[in-house]
Amino acid sequence: MKVLAFESSCDETSAAVLENGALRGLVTRTQTLHQAFGGVVPELASRNHLEQILLLTRQALRECNDSLESIEGICATAGPGLVGALLVGLNFAKGIALALELPFLAVHHLEGHLWAAELDGEMIPLPFIGLIVSGGHTQLVWVEAFGHYRLLGSTRDDAVGEAYDKVGKLFGLSFPAGAAIDKLAQTGDPAYHKFPAIMPGKNLDFSYSGLKTAMLRVVQKHSPEHLQAHRADLLAAFQQAAVKLLETKLRAGVEQFCPRAVALAGGVGANSLLQERVKIIGEDFSLPVFLPAPSLCVDNAAMIAYAGEKRLAAGERSLLDAPAKPRWPLQELTEPDS
Ligand code: KG4
Ligand code: ZN
Repeated sequence: MKVLAFESSCDETSAAVLENGALRGLVTRTQTLHQAFGGVVPELASRNHLEQILLLTRQALRECNDSLESIEGICATAGPGLVGALLVGLNFAKGIALALELPFLAVHHLEGHLWAAELDGEMIPLPFIGLIVSGGHTQLVWVEAFGHYRLLGSTRDDAVGEAYDKVGKLFGLSFPAGAAIDKLAQTGDPAYHKFPAIMPGKNLDFSYSGLKTAMLRVVQKHSPEHLQAHRADLLAAFQQAAVKLLETKLRAGVEQFCPRAVALAGGVGANSLLQERVKIIGEDFSLPVFLPAPSLCVDNAAMIAYAGEKRLAAGERSLLDAPAKPRWPLQELTEPDS
């Protein structure tokens, strides 16, 4: 089945064409207009999605020398995310599905992230533990099968990507700051500063507001010259503490639940230190580790097409009045009796 999919839940506009699980075309544009505000401005995000979506759709189709006539199904992210932003991709998709009388599927953004690694061609053995780390989510998920999810742990406050972005702002880095911090941290000495260990209990939950506040205190205490001179060191120390928590909880989850694989997902999944640590966990437990390519870690329509196509191929359909869901717990996809 050949599907056309859209992603517009936050600040990436993306369109993709996928055929029987193989990616044919993908165009993703990250909105840069939020940089001046240090965070995503929802109203501006929606307007920009509107301006971009048709253009990106044409580009994605051109990338695979295809036209709308050959498309057999339409998918779009329906949530979670910013409601105005979601509505752009969702309604654009519904319009095409209605006009061409094609089956339509409203996709869960996190289900897309969870399976993104399979777009590289290899199936993830089941059951697996997925670590979803992005600007909006930090979740440890038990994946029994496609569509069967159990939340093992999640953040009690900030998401890890949000902490990266807020710390980046303290150091004058433009939004989103995760990739820039990752790069700078690789040139710094993580031993320069010791952040207090963040261990929110023995469960599998996360917490990032304490680390963010600890960095704020450091910034308030030192002169701009000192901060500039030790920027890379402080960011390396921050990155080490941020990744340590993810690593500790993932390791604990693997020990407790004995999965057959581990998969990393979401924008922070592109982090160099996190990837290194997750690989070590894989080696320690003799488990295969799935790390999506950077273009598939960040929000993208390929992952939405992949999850949507699986559901369409199984005969599932969404109604054309399917709502955008700004809040949509992943566990709601799991049938109650399964
Ligand atoms: O999945 P994503 O594109 O959007 C959300 O659903 O939030 O993730 C974006 C987040 C941002 O917070 C960004 O700063 C972070 O991913 N990020 C990184 C890296 N690349 C992107 N964080 C740490 N290290 C990176 N290399
Ligand atoms: Zn995301």
